Amino acid sequence: MSASLTAGALFNVNGIVAVVTGGGSGIGLMIAKVLVINGAHRVYIVGRREDMLRKAAEDINPDIVIAVPGDVTSRDSILQIAGRVRSEVGYINLLIANAGIMGPKPLKPATGEAPPSIAEYRAHALKTPMTDFTETYAVNASGVYYTTLAFMELLATGNKKANMGPDWRSQVIATSSIGGFSRLPGASFAYNSSKAAVTHMMKMMATAFVPYKIRCNVLAPGIFPSDLASGIMNGLDPEKTGRLEQAIVPGERPGKEEDIAGAILYLASQAGAYLNGSVVVVDGGRLSTLVSTY
Ligand SMILES: NC(=O)c1ccc[n+]([C@@H]2O[C@H](COP(=O)([O-])OP(=O)(O)OC[C@H]3O[C@@H](n4cnc5c(N)ncnc54)[C@H](OP(=O)(O)O)[C@@H]3O)[C@@H](O)[C@H]2O)c1
Repeated sequence: MSASLTAGALFNVNGIVAVVTGGGSGIGLMIAKVLVINGAHRVYIVGRREDMLRKAAEDINPDIVIAVPGDVTSRDSILQIAGRVRSEVGYINLLIANAGIMGPKPLKPATGEAPPSIAEYRAHALKTPMTDFTETYAVNASGVYYTTLAFMELLATGNKKANMGPDWRSQVIATSSIGGFSRLPGASFAYNSSKAAVTHMMKMMATAFVPYKIRCNVLAPGIFPSDLASGIMNGLDPEKTGRLEQAIVPGERPGKEEDIAGAILYLASQAGAYLNGSVVVVDGGRLSTLVSTY
């Protein structure tokens, strides 16, 4: 039997240097954790709340996880972070552009109730200032674009280091969402369309970055408990049973740490070395219950 086909050889991330935006909480924290547990050399976690980042680094492993406060909607801030990583390590192998925010939601009737009138629907939606809508794009789409630009050269240097093996090329993974495929009435127009944007942006980058040998892939999670998803979770599981109806999620539960961990190890390790321009949906089957474009 070939040793290269064992799970240990295929799915480890030994020596990887990664940057995870939004790495101090929720899905980003799950990602930082699984990378460290499986051999990462250094994982920089980025976010606006320094205390939260520092606690995350302390909890996982402060020798490997480095808390870097920053804002992905600020070009200067991201460039500064890339400058720090350049001076401390000199390269990265993996950028996980994961920072994201929910967006304003339209009026939605309670189950069994009649839809709001046009006047009510419009008045409710128009109460949201346009800046709140575009802020969702600023974090979820523009933030991914500028973060990727900031780290392109460090990703290219990562390829020269070849520390992940000769056939493994540097990679950007954006955390998009199944929301980017969903037409669910009542969901946030700003959030879902920003996620459709980032999924397409990654596919475009996968093509545009071929000359630079940088791969781009997408993680599209379903429902995972987090600050961002707390509104959704409270609506779907008000009694906090930890179970979800089959009609909502065929897997009958929200996603958990292991679900993100498995997908990230696949994407980031030798096992996923041939992925480029891919979308990995991890949703327990949720998309099959929605009107969607997937
Ligand atoms: N949970 C789900 O069900 C679900 C499903 C599909 C996709 N996702 C996606 O998963 C990603 C992570 O979300 P989550 O669910 O884990 O929620 P979360 O715990 O609220 O994580 C969002 C993270 O993004 C960071 N962030 C927000 N704005 C930022 C900014 N301007 N600059 C830097 N960092 C910023 C936050 O840190 P600071 O506030 O400290 O900056 C936070 O750590 C998001 O892209 C989200 O859309 C989540």
